[in-house]
Amino acid sequence: MCGIVGYIGSRQADKLIIKGLERLEYRGYDSAGIAIINDGLSIFKKAGKVKALRKLVANADTSGTVGIGHTRWATHGEPNDINAHPHTGNSGRLALVHNGIIENYGVLKSALIAEGHTFDSETDTEVLVHLIEQIQKDGNLALEEAVRLALTRVEGAYAIAVIDRDNPSVLVGARKASPLVVGIGEGEYFIGSDASPFLDSTKRVVYLDDNQIATVSLENGLQIRNTANEEQPPFIQELDLQIEALEKEGYEHFMLKEIYEQPKTIFDAMRGRISSKESRVTLRGLEEYANRFVRANRIIIVACGTSYHSGLIGEYLIEDLARIPVEVEYASEFRYRNPILSERDIVIALSQSGETADTMAALELAKSKGALIYGIVNSVGSSIARLTDAGSYIHAGPEIGVASTKAFTGQVTVLTLLALSLARKLSTISNTYFQTLVRELELIPAMVEEILQENDHIKYIAKEVKDHRNALYLGRGYNYPVALEGALKLKEISYVHAEGYPAAEMKHGPIALIDENMPVYVTATNPSAYDKIVSNVQEVVARKGRVIAIVNKGEQAIAKIADHVIEIPSTEEPLTPLLSVIPLQLLSYHIAVELGRNVDQPRNLAKSVTVE
Ligand code: AGP
Repeated sequence: MCGIVGYIGSRQADKLIIKGLERLEYRGYDSAGIAIINDGLSIFKKAGKVKALRKLVANADTSGTVGIGHTRWATHGEPNDINAHPHTGNSGRLALVHNGIIENYGVLKSALIAEGHTFDSETDTEVLVHLIEQIQKDGNLALEEAVRLALTRVEGAYAIAVIDRDNPSVLVGARKASPLVVGIGEGEYFIGSDASPFLDSTKRVVYLDDNQIATVSLENGLQIRNTANEEQPPFIQELDLQIEALEKEGYEHFMLKEIYEQPKTIFDAMRGRISSKESRVTLRGLEEYANRFVRANRIIIVACGTSYHSGLIGEYLIEDLARIPVEVEYASEFRYRNPILSERDIVIALSQSGETADTMAALELAKSKGALIYGIVNSVGSSIARLTDAGSYIHAGPEIGVASTKAFTGQVTVLTLLALSLARKLSTISNTYFQTLVRELELIPAMVEEILQENDHIKYIAKEVKDHRNALYLGRGYNYPVALEGALKLKEISYVHAEGYPAAEMKHGPIALIDENMPVYVTATNPSAYDKIVSNVQEVVARKGRVIAIVNKGEQAIAKIADHVIEIPSTEEPLTPLLSVIPLQLLSYHIAVELGRNVDQPRNLAKSVTVE
């Protein structure tokens, strides 16, 4: 939800921190700020994006080699200058930035006010820095000890970075439920919400665990203790991320770049896991727990947003191919509805960021009931990835655009591999069909490449439909979750109201919405439901609805009556979502661009929802 950067070393901190904040802006962009220790503590903060902060500091003295920065997605307090981070205490000695929610901030604030503290902002974060300041003063404590004692009194989620004007040789970070990573450079250290702020300086990282406090200083290096004051040995990893993955590389938006990366990212999700020559599908994470999967009562998939939609496709795939019962749940509902769970259940979490609070909480509930928890995640080393018993990364690389695209197809690819692997173990499909699906799956990246050639045609259609204020998305079978995903894409980046429906559901109400002002996006690429969906399209056309149809190459009946047609290569039915979603991604992208929206950072949204 928010982005945090900290630096301590011999270089000027301001440039490194502001550049780092720009790389974290996808996490939130309501306001931004920086605090630097020079001969005092200089704080600059501003509502708006990081570029507003850049303008603010352009002629200021921001010299100093220790600092912290923050880019915010507002939870408590509207996005304005006062509520922007960093926050300080009354003495002005400490500066702190925070990602998360201090749930008991009200009680803490009242106690601090009773001790004479006065507050400037409406934020929960400001309470935390005042608490640390009070504890440090009462006990005349070192910063890291004051932070530790303060955190023992905090309830909620936090990732913080703190600096002390009177002790400029130390930078302190801590986390609970919100991600924080320490970068270990040559004679310098970084703190970040993820590694992107400092990837071009170092790839040696330590991911903090919950309740851990990292203290970095140039003389003592990195020391980690937990809130119980126990020393924790740092586990240093070497990242294999490339800095180019964090740049647009000539594309106008990250979203477009990530749509075009999909032939490669779908290939990478399969790399080493599939071979038609050997008629093999192998998911290492699954192999470890194969017996529990094949004997499972059922598989429950928990996720949010786009990941929920790929979960729905997973349900169709696993039930269709492996005949294991599957339920798909919104993580936010699952965690609170007192679900029935046992050790006979498998719970799979789908998450691009690996930090979604609701999905994390759903997994913790499942773990507490003895279920096997499996992760299908993109972000390596993320909280969800580290919580699960086993899992499979989708290897899509950093997804910067708030609208998820390559992560969706990466998740669906891994779910397809999972379903195929289970079907092979359970002999629920013939070897011939297994081999056909494996061979077709290997061809998908090239087919996606072919669909991307339709971009100009799709851009033309987007110009034709961009002014409609509503939209309906229809699909059947495997394409029903694709319809939901297409609607979400349009909603979240163009702010046009859109709904996805099973095509047959139209007759039960939504058809009343159809008139010449209603664009209806129909994904009609699954052969088994073809005749029925042709009838659904005719029902829409009969009521003057404007039909934009995605069909298999050479299709006639729908192409004859639709307003616009996008032809894509045909494939085996279980693999259709990997193809039919691509035109919907491009359509939503071009409509949003035509409407002048901020495609990579749509209003009100953030890339990773790490609060409830
Ligand atoms: C999708 O385009 C959205 N950005 C959002 O719905 C996202 O899929 C959801 O917040 C889940 O995120 P996750 O996959 O990182 O858990």
